[in-house]
Amino acid sequence: MAKVKVDQDTCIGCGTCPSICEDIFEMKDGKAHAKKAEVSGDAEKCAKEAAESCPVEAISVQ
Ligand code: F3S
Repeated sequence: MAKVKVDQDTCIGCGTCPSICEDIFEMKDGKAHAKKAEVSGDAEKCAKEAAESCPVEAISVQ
């Protein structure tokens, strides 16, 4: 189990994270938000992949 957070000050709204994990991230007002506060299993793997793909490292999964 890991907590997912998107730093709202850092996110530039590139849209990569919801395109990788549409079940976990959504765009609101031009910024990504975590739909789930905690993830595990495949969702955790996906969230980590999204975190690694974020160009500004706004996502934390821990
Ligand atoms: Fe924002 Fe990074 Fe997602 S810039 S939209 S948190 S991939």
